[in-house]
Amino acid sequence: MKRIFEEAALGRLPLKNRLIRSATRAAIADPAGHMPEGLFQIYEELAKGGIACIVTGSTSVSDNDFCLDGVARLSNDGLIPEHQKLTELIHKQECPVLVQLVLGEYNRAEAGKLHYNINVDDLTPENIEDVKEMFLAAAERAERAGYDGVQILASNGCFLSRFISPYYNHRTDGYGGSVEKRAKLLVELISGICERYPGLHRNLKIDCEDFMAGGLTQDDSLEICKLCAQAGVESIEVSGNGSSIAGISAGEKEAYFKKFALRLAEAVEIPVVLVGGHRSFENMEKVLNEGEIAFLSMARPLIREPYLPNRWKSGDTSPSKCFSCNMCYLTTGHHCIYASGPVSVRRF
Ligand SMILES: Cc1cc2nc3c(=O)[nH]c(=O)nc-3n(C[C@H](O)[C@H](O)[C@H](O)COP(=O)(O)O)c2cc1C
Repeated sequence: MKRIFEEAALGRLPLKNRLIRSATRAAIADPAGHMPEGLFQIYEELAKGGIACIVTGSTSVSDNDFCLDGVARLSNDGLIPEHQKLTELIHKQECPVLVQLVLGEYNRAEAGKLHYNINVDDLTPENIEDVKEMFLAAAERAERAGYDGVQILASNGCFLSRFISPYYNHRTDGYGGSVEKRAKLLVELISGICERYPGLHRNLKIDCEDFMAGGLTQDDSLEICKLCAQAGVESIEVSGNGSSIAGISAGEKEAYFKKFALRLAEAVEIPVVLVGGHRSFENMEKVLNEGEIAFLSMARPLIREPYLPNRWKSGDTSPSKCFSCNMCYLTTGHHCIYASGPVSVRRF
């Protein structure tokens, strides 16, 4: 029987329990991607709270990607020292950390012109190489900054999730058409990271499906996961388009992407991490024992209570206080409006 509080291996990374912090962007970095002091405090609190591994919020691989408001970046060498400070602070708590590498939009900046976005269908072969190189360069910086690994984001509507989706990708070259061709860019960049930076743990966050007509299906996603595992991905976090479903609470619609994660965990040899709607300790241990899912990750419950893992470990296994109102998305720094301390709600 699997238990939440037992040691388990995420590929080559030994973790002290089966709880992972799912990427949660605080949206407070400056336009150049520099992280403010408040962000370091958020991570320090999380690391002290007993989670076994932290995935950082989305961190853009590009200087010219303005898709995500307040996104941190690892897109140039000047940013490495602050990421080094972050990894040191988290490692001090004996907690491994993966940086979530994302490309929101592929924008080209040209002298005398505004930045402009290039759609999946309009990318030239050179643009595709450029995307790969941006991820590889960011992975190299991640290694220099002391990260234990990278999480490649191909979920939540970002560039790579659009690239693998038949809803957005209508290319007729080697990068579009069949599932294998839509997965080719992802597979190539994963094997590139694997070859060049073998010391980094390689995780993929992917949607089980797009949940829209003409979009990525569960069969597509399963196939892509298998290809990525062959290419060197060492663990996969299962999400779904529109990942932060509202109105979830203990006993109500928990673990909402479980069905696909169970199927995937049967199909691949690497650890599967399931995110989305974990709120009660009892249900979470049940999910772990329904099949081969190895880890459970959480975002909103840890915004509400960064010390939740320690609370559960101490014997107070009452459910997470988060009831998924999603107001955290609207606050500066993505705080919980029900937690103690001042919170400012953004005005639009
Ligand atoms: C405020 C906020 C910011 C988020 N930022 C990211 C992000 O940067 N990258 C990402 O992949 N998912 C992000 N997510 C989605 C979470 O990682 C997670 O998949 C989702 O919230 C469902 O898990 P939960 O029920 O434990 O919150 C974010 C969620 C929230 C609430």
